[in-house]
Amino acid sequence: MTKAKRQMKEDIKLIDIVIELVDARIPFSSRNPDIDELGKNKYRMILMNKADLADKEATDEWASYFKKQGYYVVSLDARKRNGMKSITDMIMEACREKIERDKKRGIKNRPVRAMVVGIPNVGKSTFINSYAGKACAKTGNRPGVTKGKQWIRLHKDVELLDTPGILWPKFEDQMGGQRLAFIGSMNDEILNTDELAVQLIRFLKEQYPFSLTERYQVSTDGTEADVLLEIARVRNCMSKGNELDYSKAAALLIDDFRSGRLGRITLERP
Ligand code: G4P
Repeated sequence: MTKAKRQMKEDIKLIDIVIELVDARIPFSSRNPDIDELGKNKYRMILMNKADLADKEATDEWASYFKKQGYYVVSLDARKRNGMKSITDMIMEACREKIERDKKRGIKNRPVRAMVVGIPNVGKSTFINSYAGKACAKTGNRPGVTKGKQWIRLHKDVELLDTPGILWPKFEDQMGGQRLAFIGSMNDEILNTDELAVQLIRFLKEQYPFSLTERYQVSTDGTEADVLLEIARVRNCMSKGNELDYSKAAALLIDDFRSGRLGRITLERP
């Protein structure tokens, strides 16, 4: 077992509810099923984050899918503070059974304890910062920044562990790995960006053709390579030798996709 996983196993013992962040554009591929085993006796909540970048209709489909599996679900943009109140309400609702059990046993003022988990870059630190209302959680991925356990009191009845649990993305199947690459969850240096752009165009041509025609005014009738060449032409992506530069166009396309400039797009459906 890796150190991170061992640590999470220890941390999970201290909490009542696991708040798992996933990326709303790939709610399946941005999960690591290890958490089901690690958090098996805990209340569970899924936050579909970066919902501002995802297709609203698909997000609703995913929300019903996860709800059917027994998770409490919220979709959100963690950079915004509004909507955080509903999260507290949902945590209380999810842990209602425990709260009532405590009450019956005469235990008062014992807050519900929660922990945020997720793969890198899903927005764990952003969420903790927004939720906690002030910058008391450090942004970025630096496991070990906080040595002792620190709890952030969010509400008289809810406390959050200030360090999120980091899960590894799973690269078990090719499609999942590719989707993680599309959203930027993999180190771009090891990726073949040209190939990635071709794959992205293939998906967009099928599922969201307007994202390409509207953004670049290109036709999607030809092959993926034709579309990429068109984008290079329209956007004047030229190499030093004054030829159309596929790679520049590929990088531009991927960057536009990641930042939402191609519109709200979800890469997988339940
Ligand atoms: P992590 O702790 O899970 O690793 O993720 P982190 O909070 O560091 O967030 C990763 C990136 O995702 C950050 O952008 C953050 O601003 C962005 N982000 C987080 N939540 C949302 C969301 O709901 N919607 C959108 N659109 N973006 C979100 P960055 O470019 O790496 O950093 P920065 O430029 O914002 O500083």
